[in-house]
Amino acid sequence: GLQDGHSETAPIEVEEQQSAQTNLTILVGSHSGNSKIVANSIVEQAAANNVKAKVVDMADYKVKQLKEESNILVIVSTHGEGEPPVAAEDLHRLIDTKRAGDLSGVSFAVIAMGDSSYKYFCQTGIDFHERLQKRGAQSLAEPILLDVDFQDHLDDVVSNSLSLFGSKVASASPAKSSDAKIKVHTNSIYQAEVLEKVKLNGKGSNKETYHVELSLEDSGLEYQPGDSLEVYAVNDSKLVKEVIAKLGLDENQLVQVNKEELTLIEALQYHREITVVTLPVVKKLSAYVGESDLNTLLDNIDELDAYLDGRDLLDLLYDFQLELNAQQLVDALRPLVPRAYSISSSQAEVGEEVHLTVGAVRYEKNDRLHEGACSVFLADRIEVEEKVGVRVKQNDGFKLPAEDKPIIMIGPGTGIAPFRSFIQERAEQDASGKNWLFFGDQHFETDFLYQAEWLKYRSSGVLNQIDVAFSRDQEEKVYVQHRLLQKAREIYQWIQDGAYIYVCGDQNSMAKDVRAAFIQILQSEGGLTPEEAEEQLLAFRKENRYQEDVY
Ligand code: 2AM
Repeated sequence: GLQDGHSETAPIEVEEQQSAQTNLTILVGSHSGNSKIVANSIVEQAAANNVKAKVVDMADYKVKQLKEESNILVIVSTHGEGEPPVAAEDLHRLIDTKRAGDLSGVSFAVIAMGDSSYKYFCQTGIDFHERLQKRGAQSLAEPILLDVDFQDHLDDVVSNSLSLFGSKVASASPAKSSDAKIKVHTNSIYQAEVLEKVKLNGKGSNKETYHVELSLEDSGLEYQPGDSLEVYAVNDSKLVKEVIAKLGLDENQLVQVNKEELTLIEALQYHREITVVTLPVVKKLSAYVGESDLNTLLDNIDELDAYLDGRDLLDLLYDFQLELNAQQLVDALRPLVPRAYSISSSQAEVGEEVHLTVGAVRYEKNDRLHEGACSVFLADRIEVEEKVGVRVKQNDGFKLPAEDKPIIMIGPGTGIAPFRSFIQERAEQDASGKNWLFFGDQHFETDFLYQAEWLKYRSSGVLNQIDVAFSRDQEEKVYVQHRLLQKAREIYQWIQDGAYIYVCGDQNSMAKDVRAAFIQILQSEGGLTPEEAEEQLLAFRKENRYQEDVY
């Protein structure tokens, strides 16, 4: 949950009240809607308190402006291996250089957004905090670390972060209304009916990919190609019962969850994460094991990280002797958070529907079958006509360009999802820009996702080119990046013609290899040195001509 950095608030100097022009600058570095939800809520509350606050996207902010500021609130998210989002890259780097200047006149706080199931949780926010301090800026508090369940604490986060600046930003004139309530910019959860569910892989495939169509009827929900849908899964009751039995607890025992009284089984099915165990959870649970290997493991974060990989709560209960009651268990576990899937439809084509392309996650570990909480919920536990809670998650970092721009899309496996949405949109727009799709999966026979649709678009001319890489149909592995390299000359021509490049799918191997392929193409076809090619790709990323949606 929320790590209470803000409880260690440094004393705030009481200053003579400056005029009402005293400003709070909120610097946002992220492309997800999440940081905007936080930023908007703070601005709204600031307005209610007559505080002049403005929100600025880090991508549009120059490092030299920093020293002119009095009060800065940084809101920044962290990606993958502790990396900043594209919008924050420049500022993150330059703030650590002389170009930032002397910031001793600046007071600041940082809201760091992240996901505690990653090792480098909130690292970018922590970097900003340290770097600002290093340049002499006045820290008002430890970084406020927000986890994926941040919305549960939003009211507190808003009031706490504003109060950090206290009189520094408070206006002389009284607030318009003393009980001005914070209005939170969340789009609420909608119960969407499942209209259709189709398994896309043929018999004999190693893969299990589902096409799921949901109704958005009368929800008023809107999304753009590139956006994601957050899906609220219900945990598998069988797994929940095993957990309860292993601890010798009673499933009907009442527990408190968010001020509500529920049975233990309800709490674990609907409100707590049991398929993923994170570091903060292990820390809390370690209070209930006495002297044990779990404490030893906690002393070595790398080992712990490796241990937790692929393990769930039940594994932990088998590996360590835990003794705790139902309420202690519920309090130690992380709230169940929705899973985000790239939307695979365009509203221009499907109207009040939303389509997903979901790979069911099942694997063996510790001699047990493990199943993804949400993907297997969609695959096994929800049927047509039943309803599932969903919410649209905006993704500004993955957006179609103007209609006349050519696009190159690389999406192996379920990475194909947003490109179905892109193509539907471009077809509806009758866009003049050309479209090139690269798809890959294991076998042509069983895994060519949406093959009929691609062929239809190919013959109608919407899809100008499609290249496929079926990795296991021959001795040697063939991947999408091999296809890119084979088409290097044409790819380069498209780039020269202003093509926008989109990559979706596996972050750790595929996205890196595809980047390397483009760097290679810029060298072989464009005559750049390796360093120049890297810089060129970086420049493309900043101009949004190279966008990634990776997981
Ligand atoms: P594989 O399973 O045969 O290794 C979608 O999952 C496709 O992506 C599969 O064909 C898979 O191949 C392939 N894939 C695996 N690793 C990859 C990588 N590093 N780059 C590109 N494709 C990869």
